Amino acid sequence: MNPEPLSPSFDPVTPNVGRMYDYYLGGKDNYASDREAAERVIGVFPRTRELAVANRRFLRRAVEYAAGEAGIDQFLDIGSGLPTQENVHEVAQRAVPGARVAYVDQEPIVLSHGQALLATDDQTVMVAGDLRRPHEIVGDATIREHLDFDRPMAVLLVFVLHFIRDEEDPRGIVRTLMDALVPGSVLVLSHAEADRRLMPGTSVYDRASSPAVLRSYDEIETFFDGLDLVEPGVTRLDDWRPGTPLHREDDLPAYCGVAHKR
Ligand SMILES: C[S@@+](CC[C@H](N)C(=O)[O-])C[C@H]1O[C@@H](n2cnc3c(N)ncnc32)[C@H](O)[C@@H]1O
Repeated sequence: MNPEPLSPSFDPVTPNVGRMYDYYLGGKDNYASDREAAERVIGVFPRTRELAVANRRFLRRAVEYAAGEAGIDQFLDIGSGLPTQENVHEVAQRAVPGARVAYVDQEPIVLSHGQALLATDDQTVMVAGDLRRPHEIVGDATIREHLDFDRPMAVLLVFVLHFIRDEEDPRGIVRTLMDALVPGSVLVLSHAEADRRLMPGTSVYDRASSPAVLRSYDEIETFFDGLDLVEPGVTRLDDWRPGTPLHREDDLPAYCGVAHKR
């Protein structure tokens, strides 16, 4: 299947998955169409906001692991979303002051906000790209100038693979990305679960910028095939190396994991 054109033009009328997520997180970069769609999802699954917040907590802990224990100082964050609290470059640079980050997203509002936010940060770039075209991402001149593909890096696919249909070959996409990296590189991934509490909400996404393709634990685990999962393996969001027990919501319907390339 041919993916849709790269960098679709700005469309405030069709609910956009990135802007809906911004609304779940309490952000202001969303429009009436996004808010209405997001409220319908919240009507189906009232803990949607908690799910988004728990995903951000996982993202922070995973980046802290990569920048700390794993010694990674380069990050390729695909489907990075709108700037919010504790962005990847802030978390990474707190752990490793020289850390370099390339953000990739296909949504125009994400790109403009990201570029504005990063105008004075020469360690971080924001690039237009479509995850369905992974060869273009790993071959992108700006990304290659910014990140050194001869050294380990972390690829972040956080709450984005569930916008890729099976026929768009999400496993092949992950393989293409990881094949472009040297051993020791890290994959950070989270994905919404095919849970009966979330399933009815997918009809809202059918009319949004991307469908929501929910997957089972077993299906999500296969994204890590051929890689070495770090402990505790593929878990619920708040069960992955939980920081403070105060934030523990262990039955939210999403899974996550972090793995190393051999
Ligand atoms: C739910 S947000 C997740 C943001 C961030 N990764 C996080 O977990 O907080 C999903 C983001 O993926 C982007 N996205 C969806 N499909 C994409 C694709 N095919 N290529 C690049 N970005 C995509 C959306 O524009 C949105 O910004």
